[in-house]
Amino acid sequence: MAYALEDEFGDIIKKARRGLDLSLGQLSNTTQIPDPDLSKMEDYLLKPTADQVSKLADRLDLDADKLLQIAEERWTPAPVPANYDPALEMVTISENVGGWPVHAYLLVCKETHQMAIIDTAAHPQTVIRRANAQAVPVVAILLTHTHGDHANGLPEIQQAFQTPTYIHRNEPKPESATPLQLVGHGDEIQVGLLQVRVLDTPGHTPGGCVFYTRNTVIVGDAIFAGSVGNAPVSYDGLLSSVRQNVLTLPDQTYLFPGHGPATTVGEEKAHNPFF
Ligand SMILES: [Fe+2]
Repeated sequence: MAYALEDEFGDIIKKARRGLDLSLGQLSNTTQIPDPDLSKMEDYLLKPTADQVSKLADRLDLDADKLLQIAEERWTPAPVPANYDPALEMVTISENVGGWPVHAYLLVCKETHQMAIIDTAAHPQTVIRRANAQAVPVVAILLTHTHGDHANGLPEIQQAFQTPTYIHRNEPKPESATPLQLVGHGDEIQVGLLQVRVLDTPGHTPGGCVFYTRNTVIVGDAIFAGSVGNAPVSYDGLLSSVRQNVLTLPDQTYLFPGHGPATTVGEEKAHNPFF
C-alpha cells in the first residue's frame, strides 16, 4: 500500500528548501549531497540514507528524528475514532481534483441538527448531495482559503442552501453568488450550539484560516499530517501562526486537513518535522 500521508519525504524537503529560499545547488553545497541526488529525492526517485536525512534536517531547520521517521515510512497518525465528540459529527467528502484527493467537510451540531459546509472540494454537486443526505439545515458555508480545489463551485452551493458564506477578510475573494461575510482571528460563527472560532494561519495564502470548535479544527492547507501546505506568501508566517494558533491547543484536538489523513495536535507535535 502507498504511504498514506499527503506529503512524503520528497515533498517535505522541497517545501522547506523553497520556504528558506535555497536553490538545489546551495543545499548541495552545505549538505555535500550531489544536486542531482537531491533532485531525485525531491521527486521520490531516491531514498536518502539516515546520514543524509540528518544533514538535510540540519540545513532545512527540520526535526531530524521526525524527518527520518517519515523518510522510513514509520509513522502515520492513528485513525480518528467514530463519534469522538458526542456534540458534533464530522463528515469528510473526498474528491479528486487534477489527480489529487481534496477534502471538504460537513460539521453537524448533534444537539440542534444544524450544520456547516466547509470548503467545496471543487465538486459542488457532490457537496450538495452529501449535505442533502444529512437532512438537516445548512446554516453556514465556511472557506479555509480560496484556492480552486477548496472554493470552486461556491455559487452552486450558495444557490442550493441560501445561507451566509464566511471567509477571512485578507483572503482573495472567490466567485460568489451572494455577498461574503468577512471574518478574522477570534471571530465566532454559530453552527447550532457549536461556537466555531476563526484562527489565523496565513502563509499558504494571505488570509488562510482554520475553524475551531470544541476539540475539532478544520485546518485547510495550513498543516497536514506530518507536513504543512506550501507557503508562497510567507513560510515563516505559516509556521509561526500554526505553532502559535493551532499547536497550542490541547493534544487531543483533532485536525482535519484539506488533503491527507486527519491527525491530532499531539501527533503533530510528536511527528511533524516542521515543528
Ligand atoms: Fe491550498
